[in-house]
Order: sequence, then C-alpha cells, then structure tokens
Amino acid sequence: MIDEISRAGAEFDAALDAASDSRALDELRVHWFGRKGGAIPALFARLKDVPKEQKKEVGDVLNKLRDRIQSALDEKSSRIAADEAARKELRETIDVTLPARKPQLGSLHPITLVRQQMEDIFREMGYSVDPGPEIESDWYNFEALNFTPDHPARDTQDTFFVDVDKLLLRTHTSNVQIRAMEQYEPPVKVISCGRVYRRDEITMRRSPMFHQAEGFLVDRGIHIGHMRATLEHFVRKLFGGEPKFRLRPSFFPFTEPSAELDMSCLFCGGNGCGTCSQTGWMEILGCGMIHPQVLRNVNIDPEQWSGFAFGMGIDRVAMLKYDIPNIRTLFENDLRVLSQF
Ligand code: PHE
Repeated sequence: MIDEISRAGAEFDAALDAASDSRALDELRVHWFGRKGGAIPALFARLKDVPKEQKKEVGDVLNKLRDRIQSALDEKSSRIAADEAARKELRETIDVTLPARKPQLGSLHPITLVRQQMEDIFREMGYSVDPGPEIESDWYNFEALNFTPDHPARDTQDTFFVDVDKLLLRTHTSNVQIRAMEQYEPPVKVISCGRVYRRDEITMRRSPMFHQAEGFLVDRGIHIGHMRATLEHFVRKLFGGEPKFRLRPSFFPFTEPSAELDMSCLFCGGNGCGTCSQTGWMEILGCGMIHPQVLRNVNIDPEQWSGFAFGMGIDRVAMLKYDIPNIRTLFENDLRVLSQF
C-alpha cells in the first residue's frame, strides 16, 4: 500500500507537469478528489483493509499525499489564473499604431440647409429672424390677415383644427406678420421659417406638412419697387446665375396688390422643359403690398406706413436646388440620402 501511494504521488507529479491550463487542472482535481471515483477517496476507502499495526503509518503517508496534491493543485491553478489574466491584459492593451477610427459626422438636412441660406440672405439685409408658433388661433392665421369668416380663400387652405376653440395648425407662416407687427414698432423687417400644415393628400409634390419662409418689411414710403428689388436680389442669391423675373398678378386677402414672382426656368434657361411644363417659367413665391386693413388690425397707421410681404415654400426650393423629384424623400430620413448633404 505504501508503494502504491508513492506511485500515485509520482503519477500526480507527471500529470501536474503536463497540465497547462485551468481546464486541465480542473480535470486533474476531479480525477484526484472527485466524489465519485476520485483516486484519493478511493485510497482512503482501502485503509480499512490495512492491518491494524500499519494503519497509522499508511494513514500518515496518505494524509501527506492528499495535502501535497491539494496545495500543488492550488498553487498551480493560481499561477495559471495569473498567467491568463496577464495574457488577457496584453491582448487588451491599446495598440497606438492602429489607424484611428473615423468618427461618423452628421450632416444638415436639405431643408435646414435651404432655410439657413434663406435666413442668411435676409440677415445680411438687416432682417431679424423670428419663428412664431405652429399652433395658432383663427385670429393670427386668418382673421387679422383679412380673411373674413366666409372668405373663399379659407377653402384653398384646408385647415387642421386642434380644438373647438378654433385653435388650429397654421396653414401658412403669415401668422408671423401679425405677431411681429404687434410686438415691434415700425420700421420692422422680419424673416421667419417654419412648418405649416394643410389637409392635403401626400403626392410627389404635396405633403400635409411642409415648410415656408415668410418675410415682410414695414417702413415709410415703401412701394412695389422695393419689393421687387428685394425679392430679385434674394432669389438670385439663393439660386445663383442671372435668371429673368416677372411679377404675375395674383390674389391674397392680406396683400394688395398681390403677385406671384416667377423666374426663368433653372433647368432650360427659359426655353421650355418638363420641369417648367414647357412654359420657361417657374413660380417661386407669393408676395404683395401689405393690405391697409392688415396694418390697421395691428394698430399701424396705413397713411404713414406701408410694407410688402412674401411667402415661399422651402421644400420646393430644396427639391429644385438638389434635384429631388419626390417630396417624400425629404421626410423619410433615409440615411443613404441624408448623408449626401
Ligand atoms: N401665405 C401665402 C401662402 O401660403 C404666401 C404669401 C405670403 C403671399 C406673404 C403674400 C404675402 O400661399
């Protein structure tokens, strides 16, 4: 039995030498101490067959072997754990020679780009930028702008109502004319860009929510020549080139006279193409001299002050400038599209 125990010790030493990772060590531990069939418990079980006078000696040798194996296993497993930790740390150290990862930069939405261009052009001319609310009362969206309750123009701007108290989603940015004229004494020059809402079906060119830019100016002695010069300067700066312009008579309840500003088609230079429906002209914006009644509605004396106002679709300009045929493209927020701007 003593011989057997020392053979077991030699066997263990060899196996311990061969075990090189924590898995092999675990297996060793099971082999020697496993509750079912572990070698050490098996040896202890055989103590009962050892003759009485040898029992103490054999027991001592066996106890020593058990303690030796136990501490050898413990010692080696903590060494291996430390090794593995060190190796892991090595793997995780920063390789300063690696090329840096490029940060993903965002970009501005085409509508934001056009809005900023528009605001910048008017800021240069001394206009202040004023946002105005999207949820508006009937007074600011219609009444103060000279739409009478049964005015046919109300039908052309099918409205989303928010509640029975006549709060609504503004159908145009012209509400800002009233709010700004209430707030500031003339002379006043304001540009305002934002969302507007109309009950329209979604098509290639229309959406129930879109964006407008609104501008107006009130001062002494303002006439239609000031308006024309301002707007032509604006459109030229916005689109570049040397387009031709024309003012075509139109109607808005809050301007008199009213007009639409057309410019020669960007794409065919006025010869006629698909984009301009063969007319050679593109409608760019609505404008006019502020109606005297509108000035009176905000306590500005039309005998002393006059002004002009204009409104323009931002989405349409973005579509023209960036050659986007479908307005949905502007609202789908597909990163493959947006990252091109
Ligand atoms: N509010 C008008 C529209 O939405 C545009 C406009 C603004 C016309 C200012 C004249 C003056 O169609």
